Amino acid sequence: MTRLRLGVNIDHVATVRNARGEGYPDPVRAAEMALAAGADGITAHLREDRRHISDADIDALAVTCRRRGRPLNFECAVTPEMEAIALAHRPHAACLVPERREEVTTEGGLDVVKGHNGIAPVVRRLVDAGIRVSCFVDPDLAQVTAAKSVGAQVVELHTGAYCQAVRERKPQALTDALLDNLRKAAAEAHRLGLEVHAGHGIDYETVKPVAAIPELMELNIGHFLIGEAIFIGLGPAIQRMRALMEEARTNAGPALAQVNSR
Ligand code: PXP
Repeated sequence: MTRLRLGVNIDHVATVRNARGEGYPDPVRAAEMALAAGADGITAHLREDRRHISDADIDALAVTCRRRGRPLNFECAVTPEMEAIALAHRPHAACLVPERREEVTTEGGLDVVKGHNGIAPVVRRLVDAGIRVSCFVDPDLAQVTAAKSVGAQVVELHTGAYCQAVRERKPQALTDALLDNLRKAAAEAHRLGLEVHAGHGIDYETVKPVAAIPELMELNIGHFLIGEAIFIGLGPAIQRMRALMEEARTNAGPALAQVNSR
């Protein structure tokens, strides 16, 4: 059975550090702890405004992940500056995300349909440099198809709408429909030969339905885990998340077997 990987996003360790302009808590220490606790890789988003992760963090995280032989997933906007940083570091993966300065978090997926001509050459240069490129898109079939056509090897499905609806206790019909969008987008991405990841807003409750989607290979989870770390510690929070992911995968056994045989 394919093991679902967990990428831990440590951005918000840097958010806490930056709130006081001190050198702690250190995102690199969090990355080390996350890897020791069972994270398969580390994800960090270098935003254009450097509101959490800094350039120096990326330098240090690249060294740490390389030393530990674990993947660094560099999240970035599609800009010349970010492309140059990605090419300088050559992380295992780069996840292309949309970015608006005024947003609190990445509010929607990258519009690959609209941005196709600008995104395709960036993807090509990153792929040529040996970086595994992912497009972070809404669970929408046209976006998935566009991600394939720009040459990305991976698509990361934005789980934010589904997770938020569950958290806000929206009607079951709505949450079912949002989960169904994720399932359909994952199936289509897999059919197109893309590796399928998912992330944004996932917590202990939503991780199970998401992890049960058989085509998924990786989840990227940050904010909830860093928040939970305040109460129970980062290691135990990651271990609990991993256990829930594995429970969901075990229950999804027959569906997974079908995907693996396709
Ligand atoms: N995946 C992507 C592409 C993201 O931009 C984010 C947020 O930075 C995440 C996953 C993790 O989301 P969260 O912090 O809500 O778990």
